[in-house]
Amino acid sequence: AKKAVLGPLVGAVDQGTSSTRFLVFNSKTAELLSHHQVEIKQEFPREGWVEQDPKEILQSVYECIEKTCEKLGQLNIDISNIKAIGVSNQRETTVVWDKLTGEPLYNAVVWLDLRTQSTVENLSKRIPGNNNFVKSKTGLPLSTYFSAVKLRWLLDNVRKVQRAVEEDRALFGTIDSWLIWSLTGGANGGVHCTDVTNASRTMLFNIHSLEWDKELCEFFEIPMKILPNVRSSSEIYGLMKAGALEGVPISGCLGDQSAALVGQMCFQDGQAKNTYGTGCFLLCNTGRKCVFSEHGLLTTVAYKLGRDKPVYYALEGSVAIAGAVIRWLRDNLGIIKTSEEIGEYLKYLNEMSPVPFFLGLGYTVVGGFTNKCHIAFAALEAVCFQTREVIKAFFLVDGGMTNNKILMQLQADILYIPVVKPSMPETTALGAAMAAGAAEGVGVWSLEPEDLSAVTMERFEPQINAEESEIRYSTWKKAVMKSVGWVT
Ligand code: G3P
Repeated sequence: AKKAVLGPLVGAVDQGTSSTRFLVFNSKTAELLSHHQVEIKQEFPREGWVEQDPKEILQSVYECIEKTCEKLGQLNIDISNIKAIGVSNQRETTVVWDKLTGEPLYNAVVWLDLRTQSTVENLSKRIPGNNNFVKSKTGLPLSTYFSAVKLRWLLDNVRKVQRAVEEDRALFGTIDSWLIWSLTGGANGGVHCTDVTNASRTMLFNIHSLEWDKELCEFFEIPMKILPNVRSSSEIYGLMKAGALEGVPISGCLGDQSAALVGQMCFQDGQAKNTYGTGCFLLCNTGRKCVFSEHGLLTTVAYKLGRDKPVYYALEGSVAIAGAVIRWLRDNLGIIKTSEEIGEYLKYLNEMSPVPFFLGLGYTVVGGFTNKCHIAFAALEAVCFQTREVIKAFFLVDGGMTNNKILMQLQADILYIPVVKPSMPETTALGAAMAAGAAEGVGVWSLEPEDLSAVTMERFEPQINAEESEIRYSTWKKAVMKSVGWVT
């Protein structure tokens, strides 16, 4: 049969902590045409350590691209219509590899990893000048979360990394850099770059000058020669060197939370979105102003959609564990097979006595007589309550977990504001596709406001009254305090 022609298509890699996806969109309608997803393993070699295999991540990207192209073929869609590819990725996760062999020199140290606690304690004792040294330049607190200290750990503890740096063979990158370098040819001419959003999560990047900061590199003792070139979020970085999409430009790159902000079209100052992935991340666009929070929010680069385009900033608040709770219920407790099953359990739930909460990698369940229905429901509730901690108007949401209507209704009840979700929840990938399609030299996606209204929305109104919402929230807060021993 003759293959259907739809006009220009754009693909997006969405490399998250729990899975990798490749999705293909129609650039004229933002319609998702096909996708494929592969789960990614996490390794926990010691308590608090979280690692992933960079090669497995790369293979998963190739597999997702190949499988999506096969599915498009089955739909009679010609893959030669794919004009660009965008990359969005889990942020902060740190990889060092050998530029001559293309081999990673250690596993990827994942954003959730806590091994650098003592490194951070030691560094915080010798911060030069005032305590604001890191925050004022990067928008971030000195923390185990960000790449600089993970890279410091690799330089201090992995002989292969040390030797490769001495011999000028080492390259550092977050997952975007590792993927773009590998996909554009790896040891045979791969492009070593990152974008401003990913760079802004390393603790080495000056978010005002938009350059690697020499003083920060000295403070963390990071050799600048191993850092990638920092580019805008929307420009051609290089061409795919292998696979079904060989020759297609990679022309969009954003950390996943920035990509979701773009995909939700939060281009105006004050617009915010919340993405429920492995963690739960709320970003609010602050426009071209770099705003510093006094309430523990981070300042981060939102996007810079083109070499000559201005940079936009965002404030960010997060809940570290969201979808990871569902994965834990499934893999560790075996309570559910899919997140939708939680809805089934609700039917059997008669009283809401326990109040669990999920923080870091640990969990606590308060109260006796707990059965699996309680735990499953409370896991969802914990995500919603913690989100209320972060936001104090309506609320734009996206991410895999937002397919769960119970979660969305709970979130509206707990926040006591309407929750609004695009009917196509893959906004992270959409944001990366938009950036790729809009890049100079590609030009198949217009970011003008009139082109952005095609997306339909689903709205969840609060179904309880304000008083009930307040009571549930304060009960949960009290139980959290009690279980950590702050209240007796
Ligand atoms: O900062 C980490 C974040 O980017 C991870 O996102 O989608 O894997 O939860 P996700």
